[in-house]
Amino acid sequence: MAERQKHVVAKVSDFEGTDRKLVEVKGRPIVIFKKGDEWFGMLDRCPHQGGSLCSGSLISWVESSGPGDYRMSRKDEIVRCPWHGWEFDIRTGVACARPTKYRARPVGVSVVKSEETETVGNLELYDVSREGDLVVVEL
Ligand code: FES
Repeated sequence: MAERQKHVVAKVSDFEGTDRKLVEVKGRPIVIFKKGDEWFGMLDRCPHQGGSLCSGSLISWVESSGPGDYRMSRKDEIVRCPWHGWEFDIRTGVACARPTKYRARPVGVSVVKSEETETVGNLELYDVSREGDLVVVEL
């Protein structure tokens, strides 16, 4: 099994005004979601028929104990595929309807300070003029 490598894919500031970004790592489309200070990544291919999860809506988890009763939780932690509506947990990639059968492929995402990237490849691609943070994908 090939060892995973870290790839600098964006600046944190690239996410100002948006909760997601589509990047490409090793020829693979990766969607990165930012939720507050948390970061999540997954292959941008729905396991059903390949729809772009980056184009999907982020929705909440809904729980119910029966008719007329429901509770919303986990705001914006479920992505709904725009093609046929399958839903996936952005933390794990697990499909909401059939969690043991389908899963969007999760990808590790982290944020590092620019001075920590000397051991991380591709740093030369980014002009970091302030002590900013970089978004790193592990693939
Ligand atoms: S391709 Fe995503 S639900 Fe069908």
